[in-house]
Amino acid sequence: MCIELFSLRDKVALVTGAGKGLGKSMALALAESGAHVAVVSRTRSDIETTAQEIQESGVKSMSIVADVTKQDDVARMVEKVLGELKTIDILVNNVGTYVFGHCLESSLEDWHKMLEVNLTSTYLCSKAVGKHMAERQRGKIINVSSALGVFGAGGSTAYCASKGGVIQLTRALAIEWAKYNIMVNSIAPYSMETEMTKTMLEDEKIKKAIISKIPLKRIGKPSDLSGVVVFLASKASDYITGQVIFVDGGFSVQ
Ligand SMILES: NC(=O)c1ccc[n+]([C@@H]2O[C@H](COP(=O)([O-])OP(=O)(O)OC[C@H]3O[C@@H](n4cnc5c(N)ncnc54)[C@H](OP(=O)(O)O)[C@@H]3O)[C@@H](O)[C@H]2O)c1
Repeated sequence: MCIELFSLRDKVALVTGAGKGLGKSMALALAESGAHVAVVSRTRSDIETTAQEIQESGVKSMSIVADVTKQDDVARMVEKVLGELKTIDILVNNVGTYVFGHCLESSLEDWHKMLEVNLTSTYLCSKAVGKHMAERQRGKIINVSSALGVFGAGGSTAYCASKGGVIQLTRALAIEWAKYNIMVNSIAPYSMETEMTKTMLEDEKIKKAIISKIPLKRIGKPSDLSGVVVFLASKASDYITGQVIFVDGGFSVQ
């Protein structure tokens, strides 16, 4: 009976940035738990491959090419999902980017880019999907932030600021939208093996330094997010909102 709480059978999820990395892995986990999943990124071939893999779980899937920093693209994306899958029960705001840069050396363009991709996209997608969820009086929104949204890190000024913004957006929306029965939570990973971190982790010295800060003594894998995303998308987390769950091998407890 308890396991039924985690079932996503017949739910519809929308996952942004699901062409690769953490987004793709979370989209596949939601599908395995029974949800129909719409996936979004800017690269058609990536997103079509993800959609095909999702269909192998026996659920419906659709791929949408969109840039979620653009309001028109976001509106078209939501319209397409509602047109084809009829509803959106779960939104995973996963899109994000990282550009290394110390404050004094980085440009205003880098600052704007990071805020747009990491924070504005989360605001735009939450707003567009939240409107639909509010009308239906239910929904689950999961924002991928980062441990660096809480802890400082050198060379990551704009990233830290943008992810801190994602965490505060999560908390504010959790309060505003509780009356619509929409739960808004955040997953905060630390260092995970994806294309975003590939170059950094290829440098053995950097990799060793990162692992030394992780009590579990390994870099995270995309599948490390599977359980938590299904939990936050499911009935099992119905009394949880505004929370940040660190998936970081213990980095944040030191
Ligand atoms: N990897 C880590 O160690 C780590 C740690 C903490 C937090 N995070 C966060 O986790 C999330 C996923 O990271 P990741 O490592 O999986 O990244 P990734 O491997 O770079 O994948 C990012 C995905 O987002 C898509 N994307 C980027 N900009 C987009 C846009 N404007 N519109 C639509 N799609 C867009 C990319 O595809 P296209 O470029 O084709 O659009 C890609 O599919 C990010 O929010 C990141 O900040 C990652």
